[in-house]
Amino acid sequence: MTAPSLPHGAPVNVREFEQAARMVLDPVHDDYVRGGAQDEVTVRANESAFAGLCLVPRVLRGAGEPVLRTAVLGHEASMPVVIAPTAFHRLVHPDAERATARAAAAEGVIMIAAMLSTVAIEDVAAEARKAATDPCLWFQLYPQPDLGFTRAIVQRAEAAGCRALVVTADSPALGRAERNDRNDFHDLPPGLRCENLRELRGGEPGSVRQVVLSPEISWRHVEWLRETTDLPILVKGVLHPADAALAADLGVDGIMVSNHGGRQLDTTPPTIAQLPRIAEAVAGRVPLLLDGGVRRGTDVIKALALGAAAVGIGRPVMWGLAVAGEDGVSAVLSMLRRELANALALCGCAGPADVPRDLVMDISAKEGCAR
Ligand code: FNR
Repeated sequence: MTAPSLPHGAPVNVREFEQAARMVLDPVHDDYVRGGAQDEVTVRANESAFAGLCLVPRVLRGAGEPVLRTAVLGHEASMPVVIAPTAFHRLVHPDAERATARAAAAEGVIMIAAMLSTVAIEDVAAEARKAATDPCLWFQLYPQPDLGFTRAIVQRAEAAGCRALVVTADSPALGRAERNDRNDFHDLPPGLRCENLRELRGGEPGSVRQVVLSPEISWRHVEWLRETTDLPILVKGVLHPADAALAADLGVDGIMVSNHGGRQLDTTPPTIAQLPRIAEAVAGRVPLLLDGGVRRGTDVIKALALGAAAVGIGRPVMWGLAVAGEDGVSAVLSMLRRELANALALCGCAGPADVPRDLVMDISAKEGCAR
């Protein structure tokens, strides 16, 4: 896990990766990655809500050098940061999901492979195995009304060695990303396909237009999946504490508190603001993950303090990939690792399981730490 060598003047933090990605990406694809729904209120709020929380460190705890290694749903990981599922990696780099999978595996980080991947899940898994003997891949699913397809793709993910199923629940319809409307960007460019969609009937094979984001999808589909697969099931996109309680009652194995990075319904609350309410609703029955706006090690430690077992990062991975392929993703991951280790040390914590709730103080933006 040595730090990858990037050229002099390379980004030193995730925000600088964002800027560097902007320099190399086609502006249409840069808009696709950075953008969100409508006024992008939630995109901004996800990040700024972290800034509105202060860390109140403990001193002289003699906690020693922090150990970041942790288990997420019982899966060993080198740190409590997972790669959130993001579609279409080939839009930003020709090595696409292959590069992301190698970087994640080499860094010992769990990767949630997206159903809308431009590399087939079997090939993503094969790349991960080139970089580590025991990589951990989870598979993200948009349940389809075509249950035959849904079953087939789950079986492909199982056969490829994926160890959990992440069911995206926040997409009964497509969020309205006006940047994409303005750019008339609604399908993959010629030559790029969604390689996991080959069993899906209707439309041109591999076209994203084949996928149905259906308002018919319900908790019954989660129950059906429970009977269809032995894989642990996480529900991604939960924001309401009542839904978190329902998920826990149904016996799901994990909940991802997520607003899809502000890309679905605009003006939803920032995830870090909802996390304490959801933690209260599930009362430790189900492990919680959170994504949305995580850009710093200090963001990670805040989420841990408020009840998350781990966080996910979406755009930062795409920015790293855009800038330097596999090395770029590795650089983003190792930056967050170093920042988290530093934040834990400065807070007097020995590791992810040693982060107390009272480390975080919520203060209003006018008093506060706002960037
Ligand atoms: C996403 N996200 C996403 N989520 C999902 O469940 N399935 C998907 O196919 C995608 N695709 C996707 C593409 C791109 C370009 C982005 C930026 C995001 C949402 C993703 O999993 C995650 O919830 C957010 O990205 C987290 O917010 P940050 O880290 O991007 O701020």
